[in-house]
Amino acid sequence: MTLSAPVPPVPTDVPTGSVAWLRANVARFSNGPDHVRRRALAVSLLEPIGDLREKAFARTQGIVAALDDFDVMAEVARPVPVGVLASALGLPDVSADVALVAAAYHPHVTPGAAAEAALGRLIEACGGADERAAARIGLLVQACDATAGLIGNELSAWLSGKPVGQPVLSTRRRIDGADVPVPLEGTPFGAGPRACPGSRHATALAAGVFQALQGFRLTETKTVWVSSPNLRMPAQLWVTRGRTADGLC
Ligand code: HEM
Repeated sequence: MTLSAPVPPVPTDVPTGSVAWLRANVARFSNGPDHVRRRALAVSLLEPIGDLREKAFARTQGIVAALDDFDVMAEVARPVPVGVLASALGLPDVSADVALVAAAYHPHVTPGAAAEAALGRLIEACGGADERAAARIGLLVQACDATAGLIGNELSAWLSGKPVGQPVLSTRRRIDGADVPVPLEGTPFGAGPRACPGSRHATALAAGVFQALQGFRLTETKTVWVSSPNLRMPAQLWVTRGRTADGLC
């Protein structure tokens, strides 16, 4: 199966603690025994974490209690999953720094100074630049856009009555010496030896967020989508309290 092919390799001779170092030390961009070991490390960090639904519910409620009209993506879908997961991994709320690193995580992006500085703070919070720190940061970065997309897409579909789309559209593999895009259609969490190890956590986080957003409705009828070939998710999703004409809430 195509998804079992290796991922395009990333440079490994890179400055310790840089975004390039993060790529070179996470399961996501590793192959062979490095992938097996780093994936096992990521799984071992995720495994003991219990159901995150209640925590996501409580955190979302705490945020929206003070809000009437707001952008769900900025206020909830981006910060809540990462904040809750960080806490479960024994870290403070590092969601703002994770968002900066997430935007520079993929190898086609040249990281800016803000992303490098944010990664420096994350490494410090994790106690230094080693493979375990990379694994914890990698989990948070992987969770960031993908879970925001899961929440944004499902919420947008739920509130608008339109069909739900999957957030991560494609990935990349090295096949016959070439880096090729591989569509993920029909497999929202991937498949094979690199399938998403965080699917249980992501769905629990999304469920808790939805539960806390009962009673809100969309204020805009037109959603603006993130412009990325790989991600399909609302850039902003404005909601307000109140009952819709057709009683959706
Ligand atoms: C708590 C939230 C999440 C965590 C901690 C997480 C973690 C990870 C990690 C560590 C990997 C790399 C696995 C490897 O290379 O062996 C991965 C891969 C993947 N994740 Fe997640 N993820 C989360 C949420 C999501 C969501 C919401 C989606 C989409 C609906 C998603 C889709 C994927 C896909 C498609 C892959 C495979 C990529 C590939 O095969 O190239 N993840 N995830």
